[in-house]
Amino acid sequence: SRRITVRDIAAAKERAEKWPMLTAYDAMTASVFDQAGIPVLLVGDSMGNCHLGYESTVPVTMDEMTLLSAAVVRGTRRALVVGDLPFGSYQEGPVQALRNATRLVKEAGVGAVKLEGGERSAHQIELLVQSGIPVMAHIGLTPQSVNAYGGYPVQGRGEEAAQQLLRDAKAVQDAGAFAVVLELVPAELAAEVTRSLHIATVGIGAGGDCDAQVLVWTDMAGMTDGRVPRFVKQYAELRQGLGDAARAYAEDVVGGAYPAEEHSFH
Ligand code: KIV
Ligand code: NA
Repeated sequence: SRRITVRDIAAAKERAEKWPMLTAYDAMTASVFDQAGIPVLLVGDSMGNCHLGYESTVPVTMDEMTLLSAAVVRGTRRALVVGDLPFGSYQEGPVQALRNATRLVKEAGVGAVKLEGGERSAHQIELLVQSGIPVMAHIGLTPQSVNAYGGYPVQGRGEEAAQQLLRDAKAVQDAGAFAVVLELVPAELAAEVTRSLHIATVGIGAGGDCDAQVLVWTDMAGMTDGRVPRFVKQYAELRQGLGDAARAYAEDVVGGAYPAEEHSFH
């Protein structure tokens, strides 16, 4: 069976079918989500926090994105794999964006790229789309700007901010994006954006009326250490389960219970 494409995403909007997206950063986890039927996997620059041990997404490099995106593509057969363009890989302008997006498509094999910014990134989106690279935009809270925000505040509160978000949504649609992530946006405003666009909205902390939802997989599966944002729903307790397994293994080794006869060769 073939991979999901941006045409399938467009068809889902026409049929008003909601769809789920998860992040993935390695082949094995990606294969689990692929076999579970998740249609779109994002190799998010959230890998900075959840996979590479950075404090934010800001330090993530093109080399890191390319390596992990290639692993996710190799681990999947059906999912549309979207690769994030990391901070500093597209802000200089459309030509820089095209060079780096092309690298993700050619070297990693992703089917689309994602970049942050509405009106401010429209020229980049336009050139990528004209060049044959599908683009998912990302507006509302854009975590690569953490140093400018001084944190991760909810976006689009107040009339002026709401109007800017609507302009950003329209700008990325007009530039040719096939979908747009809405991060940390009031539910009513995300619903209004979703109604006003013909492309898919992908919500994260943006209420229940978006066309799709995305979560960072380590948050969704209870793998993240410490607090997760209020908008996260945890569907498993992987951190507890994996820790229990490691402790049981350690106890067996120390106590001599592992390896037993059936694990030994003579
Ligand atoms: O990097 C990421 O995981 C993302 C999603 C949260 C949208 O950009
Ligand atoms: Na991201």
